[in-house]
Amino acid sequence: MAGGPGTGDTLDPMASDLTVIVLAAGGGTRMRSKKSKLLHEIGGRSMVGHVLAAVQVLAPSRVVVVVGHQRDQVGPHVQSLMPDAVLAVQEDQQGTGHAVRVAMETAGTTSGTVLVVYGDTPLLRGESLRGFAEEHEAAQSAVSVLSGVVDHPFGYGRVVRNDEGDVEAIVEERDATPKQREIREIGSGIFAFDAEFLVDVLPRIGNDNAKGEYYLTDTVGLARDAGLTVAAFPLDDVMQTQGANDRVQLAELGRELNQRIVEQWMRDGVTVMDPATTWIESDVRLAPDVILLPNTQLLGATVVGEDAVIGPDTSLKDCEVGAGARVTRAHGELAVIGDGANVGPYAFLRPGTELGSDGKIGTFVETKNAHIGAGSKVPHLSYVGDATIGEGSNIGAGTIFANYDGTHKHHTTVGKGAKTGANNTFVAPVTIGDGAMTGGGAVVRRDVPPGNLAVSGGPQRNLDRRAPRGEDPASIGEATGAEGES
Ligand code: UD1
Ligand code: CA
Repeated sequence: MAGGPGTGDTLDPMASDLTVIVLAAGGGTRMRSKKSKLLHEIGGRSMVGHVLAAVQVLAPSRVVVVVGHQRDQVGPHVQSLMPDAVLAVQEDQQGTGHAVRVAMETAGTTSGTVLVVYGDTPLLRGESLRGFAEEHEAAQSAVSVLSGVVDHPFGYGRVVRNDEGDVEAIVEERDATPKQREIREIGSGIFAFDAEFLVDVLPRIGNDNAKGEYYLTDTVGLARDAGLTVAAFPLDDVMQTQGANDRVQLAELGRELNQRIVEQWMRDGVTVMDPATTWIESDVRLAPDVILLPNTQLLGATVVGEDAVIGPDTSLKDCEVGAGARVTRAHGELAVIGDGANVGPYAFLRPGTELGSDGKIGTFVETKNAHIGAGSKVPHLSYVGDATIGEGSNIGAGTIFANYDGTHKHHTTVGKGAKTGANNTFVAPVTIGDGAMTGGGAVVRRDVPPGNLAVSGGPQRNLDRRAPRGEDPASIGEATGAEGES
């Protein structure tokens, strides 16, 4: 199975001692949410989850995450994703320089390379960070900034260079002169530092600026003043450093991320008929020659095997689809679909569904906690809950596995090679043996031994409705023009 675009595969560890600081203390008022901005999801992961996945690719020596606003949410979330991360608490958000100082004091880092990233840039790629950190180390800079050239630099810190092209300073929008505001090279906010320089410079950052904050960006000018090397490395793909501040931007980044993921899968050999309506989350894995038809959503940890055809109008979350399977207009969650199996159209596969190879879950069928053996079929209009069906059995149309007695759920077992009639009700707990059959309309309350035929209900009686009144039966149909026999 190809390693997809969202893979968290780690590269070899950096040769140097690398500390990564993730700034995640700021508020997110424009999201207008009770949930921290950093926990809002795109592509099946929180924003900070994407950043941590990118950081993981570098295999750093240590990761420090600065939390503050809504840290009761952000802290446990970070710990669940990256148990080794050190949490540093920034009580009041006095600026990015202050946040990094808190992180350095908490971690006690004094040597090596320090990389600073933001927690709300979900498109950031580990490979880009890695390249930046390596460029920084090769240049032996005191501080390096990851920059980008954009058409609309408003709001960003501008990278000020001298006539030789050397970086002189980063000036924030509010503190910039009109001439500086014309600069289109912006600081992404992502920095790499020599740790010794950083430890020395942090206490020297002032807050005499438009926001009254300690700006991390001031380290650039301070390094210059001390005659140290400063570098800016532009990243062509500026989207990688974009943050989402509100839900409109969240959706934009979500669409962009999806487009990138879908494109990468196409390059890896997956056919996607309509990329615009196909959604694939970061942790999904697809084999070559999978075909995805329009309006398909593959979510969570879904895995799809070679030559499977999914869609149209299908959403699968945390599902496993076997090679050559066909899933049409279906909704599934935590279900396993075997090789060559057939699902849909219009099927609902709830958690615990396991369909064996070459099996079938057909039209208007709902399954839950149901193991359906290889080659077995539940083709039409049925509910299969809490059941085990052996290999090569066929369940008649309109069958209900009545698993719930109003208080408890019970299990139904159907053996191998059984053929059950249409419109049956299996009242659990009940077992239908290997090779057994049931008649149409049977209500099966007692076990059916292997090879037996179960019928239930009385024999059919045909009652002549008119004979008692002595009328001529032949004239009735004409008189009423009504119900014929059925
Ligand atoms: C920052 C940069 C700017 C850059 C821009 C890119 C500074 C002074 N400016 O500006 O040059 O172009 O990012 O997006 O660094 N945070 C904390 N604690 C704080 C303050 C901020 O953790 O005390 C976190 C925020 O949660 C956020 C990040 O740091 O994730 C950036 O802070 P923000 O105030 O948004 O900086 P900008 O003004 O956008
Ligand atoms: Ca910002």
